[in-house]
Amino acid sequence: MIIAQVSDTHIALDTPDADQRIRDFARTIADVNALDPAPDVIVHTGDIVQNGRPDEYAQAVAMLAKARAPVYVLAGNRDDRANLRAAFSAGGYLAPNSEFIDYAIEDFPIRLIVVDTLSTSSNRGDFCPERAKRLIDMIDAETTKPIAVFAHHPPFEVPVGPDPINFETPEVMARLQQALQHSGRVVAVFSGHVHRGTAGHVGIIPATVMPCIATTLRKGEYPAHMKTRPVYHIHRFDPVWGFITEARIVGTGPCSAC
Ligand SMILES: [Fe+2]
Repeated sequence: MIIAQVSDTHIALDTPDADQRIRDFARTIADVNALDPAPDVIVHTGDIVQNGRPDEYAQAVAMLAKARAPVYVLAGNRDDRANLRAAFSAGGYLAPNSEFIDYAIEDFPIRLIVVDTLSTSSNRGDFCPERAKRLIDMIDAETTKPIAVFAHHPPFEVPVGPDPINFETPEVMARLQQALQHSGRVVAVFSGHVHRGTAGHVGIIPATVMPCIATTLRKGEYPAHMKTRPVYHIHRFDPVWGFITEARIVGTGPCSAC
């Protein structure tokens, strides 16, 4: 099982770096398409677009349509639930009338569970008791397979970021941590949001954060020759060792997708 994770593409149509963001996303998808062996699935962990606008989503949908592997998306703090749902409705995995964008994918040896950490009043994450119940219900719906969980906001302290806690309060983050640890079957948590690659734990569950695909918004020090090369994560599952994560640097060669 191979998962390609992309995140924080922040597609915009009217910022000075809008073309670069589009180029970064297109190059990343072209690189994922060229992987051998190919990934089984691509998951976008949110902040797909900059302002949650339908025209931005139309651009993102057109770019993701070039992906060869099935694509699943979730909501980051820059996303708009209703517009995201409308844009990606053709995938059939987003419940049309659900209050939250959370779901489970059962097509693989590892269950993929997406949670909704969007707050409508803050860039930080939220995770209310209703969402905790929904996550526990999804986890409990199947009791034999390992589970990988995807959440835009990392549910562990990230000391290299501007604020180590990326949720509205430590109590809110603890609620998500408790739900993740409730069954013992969650083997990995994959996030974005902080725009830099890092890793931590939720209890004994390994948790990683991938860098921002939009190179103009990426945090951390990169040498000059890498400043316009996106970095994404490939998660390969081993039945003994669990997920092994590789940071993949996208090439700078000509891109037929750009
Ligand atoms: Fe972001």
